[in-house]
Amino acid sequence: MRVNIHDLAIGGDGVGRLNDGRIVFVPGSALNDELEIELTEQKDKFARGVIKNILHPGDGRREPPCENIRRGCGGCDWQHLDEDAQAEAKISVVESALRKLQQEEIPEVGYVSGPNSVGYRTTVRVGIEEGRAAYRGRSSNDLVQVSDCLVAHSSIQEIIAGGFFGNAAEAVIRVGSRTGDRLVLGEPSAEGFVLPEEVQIIGRNEARKGKKAFITEEVAGINWRISAQSFFQSSPEGAEMLVALAAEWLDQKNAGERAMVDLYAGVGLFSGTVGDWFDKVTAVESSISATLDAEHNLGDHVTIVRSNVEKWVPELADVVIADPPRGGLKQEAVDVISATRAPHVMLVSCDAGALSRDSSLLRTAGYQLDQVDVLDMFPQTSHVEVVTGWIRY
Ligand SMILES: C[S@@+](CC[C@H](N)C(=O)[O-])C[C@H]1O[C@@H](n2cnc3c(N)ncnc32)[C@H](O)[C@@H]1O
Repeated sequence: MRVNIHDLAIGGDGVGRLNDGRIVFVPGSALNDELEIELTEQKDKFARGVIKNILHPGDGRREPPCENIRRGCGGCDWQHLDEDAQAEAKISVVESALRKLQQEEIPEVGYVSGPNSVGYRTTVRVGIEEGRAAYRGRSSNDLVQVSDCLVAHSSIQEIIAGGFFGNAAEAVIRVGSRTGDRLVLGEPSAEGFVLPEEVQIIGRNEARKGKKAFITEEVAGINWRISAQSFFQSSPEGAEMLVALAAEWLDQKNAGERAMVDLYAGVGLFSGTVGDWFDKVTAVESSISATLDAEHNLGDHVTIVRSNVEKWVPELADVVIADPPRGGLKQEAVDVISATRAPHVMLVSCDAGALSRDSSLLRTAGYQLDQVDVLDMFPQTSHVEVVTGWIRY
């Protein structure tokens, strides 16, 4: 079956149209590819297929630079696109996500690239097969053993290449690229792990019983304690890009200096940087581990609330920064933001679908989109990080 790819969808697959009018999603394709495909799933309104033959390569198609892709690794879904094509596709996905917004004018989507397109990730989650590190396969859940990773930081490479991970199902490898700290969290346990001597090893079972393990990483001139179970951004450079964008927008908008609310605060990245401009900061975060790190990382003017955002009793604020997980804010968290009556809201979305849904909800709650930027914190993948600035009207 022949198909032309006319778009790249949220999630990274190419989109084409079958002769019967149905949409077909094809992983590993480029815009304007002409492909011979085989259908793998058929529904009434859409189908899925895999590439059998590239009849004519589309825009920016290239040979993936990493050998693991040829072996079926599904870790990076856009390595077959050159970096310009990746950037254009990310902007286009975000524009489509915002198209539904019923706003007179949508600001132009900005794009901020990171300093490194390879070797940037300081946290990776790997599957384990026969004690060795592996990634999920491209179109299956099968594991593909790897001895290196194009996007992982060099100090993670050594652990991937030589580490033995016992009978664990998964491991999270986290390093402080600026401090040299290294840590591996085994899931469900770290029994039988053999890793370089200075690497801290902890099992999820031990962490649950109170054993502590953390790395320190430097971001924006500050040392952050990040425990094994706490979230942190994909790299210190990525975290600095986020902080710089927040600082620029809040400064440009003269967004006030009394009260800031940091929702989904993690270990305190925003509270501990742009939060310094405010007399009072409230950081709301549900994870025990992250709130303990935040207490260590942040100054006295920050009140740390261990709570789900949806259950937190809102306070009046000049600014809200919200950085939810992949599922986005949803109605309950938008209601919380709205109840703070903050004139300025910065939303960090790590999924274009969630951005689309949250944008409509914020608009209905009385906010207007003022600025939108794609931060390319995950080169070689379709993963987007989008920062939007909203003003109450
Ligand atoms: C994308 S991370 C952002 C962390 C932080 N802003 C940063 O930049 O490092 C999302 C955070 O939200 C927390 N979280 C997830 N669901 C939550 C909820 N319903 N209420 C509060 N925090 C939540 C997670 O534990 C995680 O730390």
